[in-house]
Amino acid sequence: MSLVLADITLTYPDGDRTLTALDHVDLSVAPGEFTAVVGPSGSGKSSLLAVAATLIAPDSGTVRVAGHDVSRAGQAARTRMRRDHIGIVFQQSNLLPALTALDQLLVMAHLAGQPTGAAATRAAELIEAVELVGKEHKRPHQLSGGERQRVNIARALMNRPEVLLVDEPTSALDHHRGERIVSLLADLTRRNGLATVMVTHDLATLSMVDTVLTMTDGRLTAGDGTGAVATAGGGRSAP
Ligand SMILES: Nc1ncnc2c1ncn2[C@@H]1O[C@H](COP(=O)(O)OP(=O)(O)O)[C@@H](O)[C@H]1O
Ligand SMILES: [Mg+2]
Repeated sequence: MSLVLADITLTYPDGDRTLTALDHVDLSVAPGEFTAVVGPSGSGKSSLLAVAATLIAPDSGTVRVAGHDVSRAGQAARTRMRRDHIGIVFQQSNLLPALTALDQLLVMAHLAGQPTGAAATRAAELIEAVELVGKEHKRPHQLSGGERQRVNIARALMNRPEVLLVDEPTSALDHHRGERIVSLLADLTRRNGLATVMVTHDLATLSMVDTVLTMTDGRLTAGDGTGAVATAGGGRSAP
């Protein structure tokens, strides 16, 4: 398994009480497996991704990323995990306004100390994979929402992570563009053997994922909450 969360509990201070955002959550994602997490707003989906991304340390439980137990890792080790093993695509694109699409990718490689030649090759490969050939010299404001999201995805893959974490990638896109982004994520997941977790509201795209999980009040359960259960390989069948 590329990503394992075991018995994770996360609380936030809430006045003089605590709010339980994740309640004994278990999640395992294998290489090449595309997992979607659905559930109402406020149920803990982004908190789950933040724990998997090593951005927030849980109160209890174990986090393993690419075989490394990061549960008790310090700040520096967590930063290295994110840089080398985890790709993160957040809801709002946080591209640097002054940089071209290509430079957004190259910066990531530079931070990881990748040699310039190898970085250029990798960036060109990813620009092609996300269908941005011809747009690589455009800055974020010159790109559409869907194109910016594809730059985000390419950037997250620059350092060849094992784990890809994606929070509501289609929320700012129309249905057709949203579907293309999820189809791209499915393709990249399988071709690169990524363990991908995508939080989504877009139930129409669930046919493209391998596993569907539902978050409700900090608890994670199998299925999309409608009674249909996803099976490995992307097919969905009624029980
Ligand atoms: N940094 C925070 N401090 C306090 N409470 C938070 C924080 N982040 C999220 N929460 C609360 O935790 C719960 C889960 O939030 P979140 O993980 O963002 O859910 P979702 O992504 O499913 O909307 C919500 O009740 C939210 O208000
Ligand atoms: Mg959220």
